[in-house]
Amino acid sequence: MKEISKNIVKDGYAIIKNCISLKLLDKIQLSINEKLENTLKVNSTKNKQNLSKNYYNLAKKLSQFDIQKMLSEHLIKDNLIDKIFKEEKLIENLIYLIGPDLSYLIDYEMAINDKKNTNKDYYFIKKYHQEFWSGMGLESLQLWIPINLKKGMGTLNIIKSSHEWGHIPHQDRQPLKLPKKYKTENLKINNGSVAILSALTLHSTIKNNHKDIRIALPITVRNFYYPNKGNSDLFNFKKINNSFFTILRKKLGNPQYSPFRTMSLKN
Ligand SMILES: [Fe+2]
Repeated sequence: MKEISKNIVKDGYAIIKNCISLKLLDKIQLSINEKLENTLKVNSTKNKQNLSKNYYNLAKKLSQFDIQKMLSEHLIKDNLIDKIFKEEKLIENLIYLIGPDLSYLIDYEMAINDKKNTNKDYYFIKKYHQEFWSGMGLESLQLWIPINLKKGMGTLNIIKSSHEWGHIPHQDRQPLKLPKKYKTENLKINNGSVAILSALTLHSTIKNNHKDIRIALPITVRNFYYPNKGNSDLFNFKKINNSFFTILRKKLGNPQYSPFRTMSLKN
């Protein structure tokens, strides 16, 4: 855990390896596929297709933006995002990094990348950007959770240590100026591992040339006691873990800590 913390401080990002069970990932893929089939109204077993084929079929009827939104909400309703945050190795690392009072952004948006996305699609193939530009607070961590990632699909490209440059001036969703010399790295990550980025780490989307779709969940996590250093107050967060202090506050029920709830005064 110390190593992961050190890496984020030094490079602006780190990977928590094998922290989500492949069984849970299968469940999430299955749930996504079921939602696609229900929307496509596929009834007979013989018409059932795999996830990528169902996606491409639905993309003929709905925009990619609408599909991403629909599937993101579906995973929340199906309690599968909650289940991700119940994975022990993941939650323990997050607690080590930013403390036990944790919440996650339920307004997140699933990132789908298919071979048809072109570099002109700035929304789906993003140029170098900082999450800070769209309101993520400096106190938060950005997770990038691969759900369907195969060899050759590509991931994210990251500018190492760019979080130390502060807020980079930008226009039209790209930096106005970058230093002459910097180091980039393509994120090496497998299904079951999770990448963590700071709000200031510059990163871009790598185009997916695989015939299947790449699916990842970019989700912000924050300690709800940390001062908001962005626009976090404008978004919806769900609490996922409480410290002793928070549990006791909730038990006592009010900020005066009066014993009305926990102690009977009648003899
Ligand atoms: Fe991003």
